[in-house]
Amino acid sequence: MTLLNIQIDKETVTKVTQLVRFRKSEWLHLPLIRARNMKAFLKGRLSKRQYELARSLNYEFKRWKCRIGAPKQFETDLTKFHLGCGDRHLKGWLNVDLFDSDVNLDIARGSLPFADGQFEAIVSQHVIEHLTIEDELIPLLQECHRCLRIGGEIWLSTPDMEKVAKSYVEQGNDDMVEDRKQRLPHWGLNGMPNQHFMNDMFHQELEHRNLFDQGLLEWTLTQAGFTQLERVDEGKLLECYPAFPPRNDDYQSIYMKATKS
Ligand SMILES: C[S@@+](CC[C@H](N)C(=O)[O-])C[C@H]1O[C@@H](n2cnc3c(N)ncnc32)[C@H](O)[C@@H]1O
Repeated sequence: MTLLNIQIDKETVTKVTQLVRFRKSEWLHLPLIRARNMKAFLKGRLSKRQYELARSLNYEFKRWKCRIGAPKQFETDLTKFHLGCGDRHLKGWLNVDLFDSDVNLDIARGSLPFADGQFEAIVSQHVIEHLTIEDELIPLLQECHRCLRIGGEIWLSTPDMEKVAKSYVEQGNDDMVEDRKQRLPHWGLNGMPNQHFMNDMFHQELEHRNLFDQGLLEWTLTQAGFTQLERVDEGKLLECYPAFPPRNDDYQSIYMKATKS
């Protein structure tokens, strides 16, 4: 059988069958893509372009699934909102992501199901670069502004376009690669030269839509109604909210805090 130009033989079918874990209540989870070893499995069999397409389709599928299943209103006593939590679930926080979170939401759908002034704090680390600015991020931040109480704060972190570009010009990204390898020993550029870090940051297998420098991030927050802005770092975030596991990523990231006035 041939699919997307890939030869599907008996052995492949057997392997896929072994990897697929159907959970009755979660059949819509597209287990073919979610299975633990699927990333490596697909990488070995698809071209880079096909692999990125598969990942994009999986992402869009999860977003669509969240949109059809999302509550119109969600009531909670929690006053701290962890936006795009990934697998970092924090006690005492409302941890939100596309899957396996307290409330699975597509945060880029234009509205959040929470009451006005529900939250005293919102934290989102390395998520905003996954959204388009005009029609996804600004509406999301407007919603965050609505859901914050007066004096409430939103803390954002994202890869810093200025740091990455400066590192490319001055060091061909050698320092960024070194920093990343120290934090994530299994990470690598697959034998590509260090300058490729720049490309990886900009698209990250089609996951990233934009990088931000301080000016662009401030402009975006201002468009959403925030006027009190402060550049911070991870240390400041952890001082306020020690429950967050450190990412130790100041070297490549920008952190901003905005307060609702
Ligand atoms: C790079 S990970 C960061 C995860 C976590 N904040 C951390 O610091 O490790 C980006 C996260 O954003 C989530 N995300 C991206 N787009 C999203 C969307 N439209 N709705 C909800 N979550 C989204 C992804 O599922 C992923 O968990």
